[in-house]
Amino acid sequence: MSPGVVVSRIRKHVLMNGLEWVRRHSPGCLASVDSEARRTLSVFRQSQDFQYAERHAILRALHRQRQRMPAGVATVGVANRKGGVGKTTIAINLAATFAAAGRNLLLLDADPQGSATEWTQQRRWRNRFPVAAAKITTVSSFVRTVEQTIDDDTDLVIVDLPPSLAKTSLAVALAGNLIVIPITASPIDLWAARAAVETVSDARNLRGGQEPLLSVVPSRIDDRTSRGKRLASGLEAMGFVVGPTMRERVLFRDAAERGSTVADLEKRSPARREYAALAAHVMTRLGELDLGPRVSADARKPASPDAAAASTSSTAP
Ligand SMILES: Nc1ncnc2c1ncn2[C@@H]1O[C@H](COP(=O)(O)OP(=O)(O)OP(=O)(O)O)[C@@H](O)[C@H]1O
Ligand SMILES: [Mg+2]
Repeated sequence: MSPGVVVSRIRKHVLMNGLEWVRRHSPGCLASVDSEARRTLSVFRQSQDFQYAERHAILRALHRQRQRMPAGVATVGVANRKGGVGKTTIAINLAATFAAAGRNLLLLDADPQGSATEWTQQRRWRNRFPVAAAKITTVSSFVRTVEQTIDDDTDLVIVDLPPSLAKTSLAVALAGNLIVIPITASPIDLWAARAAVETVSDARNLRGGQEPLLSVVPSRIDDRTSRGKRLASGLEAMGFVVGPTMRERVLFRDAAERGSTVADLEKRSPARREYAALAAHVMTRLGELDLGPRVSADARKPASPDAAAASTSSTAP
């Protein structure tokens, strides 16, 4: 970073904190604060520096909550600040693939748009896994929602995240095990994905371990375009762990309004095989972590020694 950039960042920092100080200690004086300072502040608030500082401040505040997921429950968030990259499509179809393979899972719809919930309310919805809408703004609310919504056998939670890096995504990055970021083959989307990638690595640094793991998944890829063909290798060259490529398929375009998923297709259909590969990728990634055995809610409650001895616990497959 050049000295000029460092100086301008320090100036902005001083300006911001100065205004904050005035606001706190002498709000009456705020009107007399130099108008140029206010203008600079407003420009700065829209800048990447400010967004980074703000995101980091929220991450740090959320991290202090230090709540933990129930043992043995793996949580996978599907995130990207960019809208329309296929987050909900991937979350629903991944969940449907796991459910069809007999896994007990929960899909959390953490997006206020409620697209995943709407999807499951359509006429042709045949999948039997539970889907719950969740308002997640803190690590505590995320952990509480999971604890209150899962069954004793649930050992996987997939979270469909909103198109922002607001508190919801930050909380899931701080308490989750794996974040999947769908990336389309457009350069604008690739730039936008950078923010989500940085959030994951900031969360990992704060947690001081390898979690959350990050996988990027090429999404809505048209193999006929050179950009589409090159995306996965380009992402690998950038050092990402890259999941299987999810192709642009006509059948996904109206799947939501029909309420259908890949689990309704022939086992050998290319779309279903694509999702089977994604599910295998997710399991391989989660296998890198020591999630411990699944402990049922009853066993987690403080209990008398007799009751504890009688309680049952199930183990993740
Ligand atoms: N693989 C695909 N092939 C074809 N269309 C797709 C595919 N994936 C997603 N779409 C379509 O792209 C649109 C956006 O998909 P989706 O809602 O899953 O994205 P999103 O990232 O969840 O969006 P938002 O950020 O608004 O929540 C939808 O119309 C969906 O049907
Ligand atoms: Mg969505």
